[in-house]
Amino acid sequence: MMKLKVFRFDQETGESHYDTFEIEPSAGMTVLSALFKIQEEFDDSLAFRYSCRGAVCGSCAMLINKIPALACRTRIEPLLKGEGKIKLKPFKGMEETVSWNPENEVLVEPLPSLPKVKDLIVDMDKFFEFYRAVETTFKPVSEPPEKERLMQPDDVKELEKYTNCILCAACVGSCPVSGKDRDFLGPAALAKLYRFHIDPLEADDESRLMLANSKFGWWGCEFHANCRAVCPKGVPPIEGIGKARKEIKELGKKPD
Ligand code: SF4
Ligand code: FES
Repeated sequence: MMKLKVFRFDQETGESHYDTFEIEPSAGMTVLSALFKIQEEFDDSLAFRYSCRGAVCGSCAMLINKIPALACRTRIEPLLKGEGKIKLKPFKGMEETVSWNPENEVLVEPLPSLPKVKDLIVDMDKFFEFYRAVETTFKPVSEPPEKERLMQPDDVKELEKYTNCILCAACVGSCPVSGKDRDFLGPAALAKLYRFHIDPLEADDESRLMLANSKFGWWGCEFHANCRAVCPKGVPPIEGIGKARKEIKELGKKPD
């Protein structure tokens, strides 16, 4: 048997507490499967988001043993063995103290830095507001060609690092700057903006760079690198942010 210590929150009363459930983990059981088991066998009021169950939709990100991760991709057994731990710089959710025994217990909490809605569900409005603010639509530099637009393999390789994002917000949850500054665009939006900036099929100018040329954009990052460490898709927001800053400096521009 093992225990799941789960954060509970009621938006109407503003009250929160932890509930502990004892379950028998099956082979290969994930945190998401364990939450389903709790819903089915103990408490059907437990609220959490999910959809694909296969690390594709990005909806099940939560704080698992104080690390932002996808519940559908995080298996219980390695957690109890203490495997796969990653070292992160202190961030908002990590600092909130709660005791649990990692040898037979898994701690499950909502992503930090985003407003809580119910239990493990957070409000993603601000996350998507920032995403829209960086104009995440392709702006081709030329008229549509007769056939497809061609790209060089090296360009595709560089772009792919950023296009793999599934909008789970794990990076935002782990980011110390997002935790203290609600106006910081955050790693996911900045990674997406950088992806369009380097797209060779867009205009080769500085317009994308200038969209986030402020302390709420590229210059707000403190290079803690938690974003890259927790991203389930290997997206490196910190890399794009660093390169964008270097380019802006080379252009002789100052942050707005
Ligand atoms: S960059 Fe990674 S961690 Fe951040 S939203 Fe995209 S997939 Fe999730
Ligand atoms: S349920 Fe879709 S990513 Fe986990």
